[in-house]
Amino acid sequence: MKIAILGGTGPEGAGLGLRWARVGHEIIIGSREAGRAKAKAAELAARAAGAPILGMSNPDAAMTAAVVVLALPAQGLAATLPQVKEACRGKPVVSTVVPLTFSGSRLFTPPPIGSAAEEIQALLGPEAKVVAAFHHIAAHELGSEHPIDCDLLLCGDDPEAKATVTELGKSLGLRVVDVGPLANAGPVEGITALLVTINRRHRIKNSGIRITGI
Ligand SMILES: NC(=O)c1ccc[n+]([C@@H]2O[C@H](COP(=O)([O-])OP(=O)(O)OC[C@H]3O[C@@H](n4cnc5c(N)ncnc54)[C@H](OP(=O)(O)O)[C@@H]3O)[C@@H](O)[C@H]2O)c1
Repeated sequence: MKIAILGGTGPEGAGLGLRWARVGHEIIIGSREAGRAKAKAAELAARAAGAPILGMSNPDAAMTAAVVVLALPAQGLAATLPQVKEACRGKPVVSTVVPLTFSGSRLFTPPPIGSAAEEIQALLGPEAKVVAAFHHIAAHELGSEHPIDCDLLLCGDDPEAKATVTELGKSLGLRVVDVGPLANAGPVEGITALLVTINRRHRIKNSGIRITGI
């Protein structure tokens, strides 16, 4: 599958791109600066034994791909998404975005609409098929060489888009747990604030979650 990763120059998007490239997906790293995307793509291609990884501006990357993954800080959504709205029409759009604020006493700072994923849906309009996923898969884990020790929770309102993202998760060896509609994205994103807190307490970088009883 051809996957654009907007903000793929950062550790979360780059880690996903590297893992997907290694299992045969075509990856396009997106950035606000095409040159930065090309440099990161070349670095990742070298780590993935020459697998196809290209670098482009965010709008060109979104236009070229069948699936668009958003791996940006929540603070960048309002400026970035209007540039890619047309390119995202009818496509699965995967939000990895967690609205966190590292200054101050409140780590989880969702927008008034409830979650970053719902903000993305509002910014892109109803024709983008937004799925929230990968929030609990730490960049540190993605960048490692061992199997990822975490379940993949996803939610969204479009069954076909959820099926596509389920396949993308399974291609990374993850057990995928569908946790319902996009309206559940707030609690899904909030779990990452707990994982960040656990990481700080235990001085680690890769806590994750598993759902028991299913
Ligand atoms: N890191 C993790 O372990 C982890 C785990 C789960 C979920 N997430 C979520 O995944 C997303 C990406 O995480 P990350 O750690 O890779 O983030 P990051 O390094 O802070 O940012 C990723 C990329 O986004 C672009 N960017 C930065 N500020 C921007 C802005 N104001 N507007 C538009 N683009 C901007 C930058 O690329 P260019 O400068 O090249 O455009 C940057 O390389 C975040 O929402 C995060 O909450 C991260």
